[in-house]
Amino acid sequence: MRFYLIGLMMALLCCHPRTNYSQFQGEGLRTDEQFLTEGRDEAAKHCSGCHMVPEPASMTPETANFVLSYMGLFLGIDASGSLHHPMERSQFQTRYTQLKSGGLIPPQPALGRDSWQKLRNYYLALAKKPSREPERGVAPEKIQVPYEFDDQAITLLRRFESDTLAIGGGVKNLLRMFRISGELKWEKKFTSPPVWIENDGDKWYVLTLGDLLGSVNPKQLSELWEIGPRGERRLLTGLPRSSHFEFVKKGGVRKFFISSFGGLGNGKFSCFTFEGDVPREKILSRRDSHVRSRIISGDGPLRVLSLAAGAREQLILYTETNEGFSEKILAEYPPHTGSVWIDLADVDGDGREEILVLSGDNADSGPWNEIKEDQGLRIYGLSENAAVLKKFIPIPGALSFHILPTIAGKFHIAIARFYAPNESLSDIVVLKHKKDFVFERKDFRIDSRATVLSSVSRNGVRNLIVGAGNTPKFEIVGGSVTRRDFSGDLLTEFALH
Ligand code: HEC
Repeated sequence: MRFYLIGLMMALLCCHPRTNYSQFQGEGLRTDEQFLTEGRDEAAKHCSGCHMVPEPASMTPETANFVLSYMGLFLGIDASGSLHHPMERSQFQTRYTQLKSGGLIPPQPALGRDSWQKLRNYYLALAKKPSREPERGVAPEKIQVPYEFDDQAITLLRRFESDTLAIGGGVKNLLRMFRISGELKWEKKFTSPPVWIENDGDKWYVLTLGDLLGSVNPKQLSELWEIGPRGERRLLTGLPRSSHFEFVKKGGVRKFFISSFGGLGNGKFSCFTFEGDVPREKILSRRDSHVRSRIISGDGPLRVLSLAAGAREQLILYTETNEGFSEKILAEYPPHTGSVWIDLADVDGDGREEILVLSGDNADSGPWNEIKEDQGLRIYGLSENAAVLKKFIPIPGALSFHILPTIAGKFHIAIARFYAPNESLSDIVVLKHKKDFVFERKDFRIDSRATVLSSVSRNGVRNLIVGAGNTPKFEIVGGSVTRRDFSGDLLTEFALH
């Protein structure tokens, strides 16, 4: 028995080494404990300045290799010689040009060659094995969409109670307002993609993104428009790249909380107050990559949640005080999380809303969009200004979600997977609320690359509407690059029962 146990332990030790890899692209990797520990210490020292220190097991070697070349730039290290694929080289080149022109590459390396080698070895030797997600998307029964909209990418989709569906496009910068039945109410063309819209009586407020993809010299082209019976006008111009706003009116004073993603240090989260026509800006945060916010309803001081992505990914609570706003970090995520969307819903029916946070953006980890299991939907309870994680549902590669109320107290959460794993063919995930934090999951294949979602009712049936942007998606599967092309429609509609 003893021998058996010793044998088992030895088998475990020899067959489950701490390292996953002893070489990468022909480059030998060291797997001895001491060298790995030194590498970990270098990472703790040099990779902690701008975000949480990533775990090596959060990346495959291919992604680690790309990310290290990219991040090396921030440390004055040129490690791009290890990037061989043209797509890697071209994405790296774009990043290099951006960082160079932003003056973000230090002239002297922050660490010596040996230290860099240890750090690089640590990430490559302990990198994860690629994850797989088997095919799971079933084709829904699509319904003919009655909305005429010709673009290549949908950037905005939102239904209002006033029999209105707003659809915005990212290439033609067009906003069209439809009746649910399909009749066009009005439209307007902007200078950049419309990304969010709010309604205020007979007025509409529309936010435009500025640059679609972010440019080398981040311009401040994002705008907030007011459109109403008395005409249309710009309320705000010259905003850094902005993706979303929340609107509230208190005592006749209009407040807009604008999430400015920005780029290269000009991002911010601001509250603009209008008394009459004159805007007054209160900057709540001066960091990049605020993506979306939500005002928590209720009496007492105004409370706003902001979701920040980019490097230091955080869920932040701002509370209005006499002096301005106080800030409380509720949660922090590693930099590959790709936080994208936030909303509130009373999930457990206790009369208090939970916070729903979605992550899955995969654009900055290189061209391969690998599967990251810790991306997905997190549901938090909020008590005493602290967030308590109640539920995590892994949905790697998600970009946005939409809550569809169904029967009393129940709802579906539909999730658009812009970065759905190629093999899975799971473009949309629908979480059907059963009770408390229990959901039943269904995956749908629509052959469109889903960006944003909304829903409409037709004859008492709730239909999901999916907007898309059909660029091909690349992935490394079994060592070679695979490509998925999308032939589905720009807008897809199907019933959710
Ligand atoms: C000077 C600031 C800075 C330092 C130092 C830094 N990073 Fe980053 N890191 C960033 C920024 C900014 C981003 C977001 C990049 C983007 O959005 O394109 C990021 C993103 C990342 C990501 C996520 C990529 C993705 O989107 O999947 C990883 C992983 C990462 N860094 C690893 C590292 C490692 C490893 C080191 C140390 C070698 C490091 N970083 C050092 C600024 C930094």
